[in-house]
Amino acid sequence: MIIVKTPEQIENIRSACQIVAGALREVETRIGPGVSTGELDKFVEGYIRDNGGEPAFIGYRGYKYATCTSLNHEVVHGLPGRAVLKAGDILGLDIGAKVNGYYGDAARTFAVGEIPKKTRKLLKSTEEALAAGITQARDGNHLGDISAAIEKVAERHGFSVVRDLYGHGVGIELHEDPLIPNFGEPGHGPLLKENMVLAIEPMLNVGGSNIRMLADKWTIITEDRSLSAHFEHTILVRKGEAEILTWLQKM
Ligand code: MF3
Ligand code: CO
Repeated sequence: MIIVKTPEQIENIRSACQIVAGALREVETRIGPGVSTGELDKFVEGYIRDNGGEPAFIGYRGYKYATCTSLNHEVVHGLPGRAVLKAGDILGLDIGAKVNGYYGDAARTFAVGEIPKKTRKLLKSTEEALAAGITQARDGNHLGDISAAIEKVAERHGFSVVRDLYGHGVGIELHEDPLIPNFGEPGHGPLLKENMVLAIEPMLNVGGSNIRMLADKWTIITEDRSLSAHFEHTILVRKGEAEILTWLQKM
């Protein structure tokens, strides 16, 4: 069942999302060659706590970190630690915050120093796929409209979409109904209604769509070790255009 949120729940989810947005903005300035993923994770954890939130990922199914840090051919759920960034890398940073029991979730893939043109295209295309999905997230549309829009952008740019991992409802739990595939048919699936809250998160690969899990039981990589990018926003479904809750509001 897809939960339609109350105004009070939405206020709390918005607060959590704004902490995530702020953390992403602040951590971006700290990303660069020589920095370890563990340092970035500690910075984000501190930022979330200093701003009145809790890191939503810590304790989730035994997860130990505030962030997921996925480097290069890692798709998602990479573990922060000793890995040191170098120019030419791409780093997916996924952050969740909890405020008064309510959740926000967002991710971006950052370039470390200069990256090749093809890699820039992968990042841009993944962001564009997310934007296209968000455009379809409106009252009266179907879930499949979001999925199909994402797939279409990926295909147009010649990238494959990860088919075994999904976006999700979010807010009262970190992961709620519905699952949101990044591929699908327009007009199919459940109807979207005002005040549903969704985490839309396309993952695009340069090579094939297949993935596998590392022995750490968390890190997901591309089977062919090709580069992968991941962008995610938590959005509020409305009658018109969705509100992107994990965009920083000007104050
Ligand atoms: N944003 C991630 C997702 O939706 C959440 C990471 S789960 C955790 O898949 F266990 F790493 F926290
Ligand atoms: Co998510």
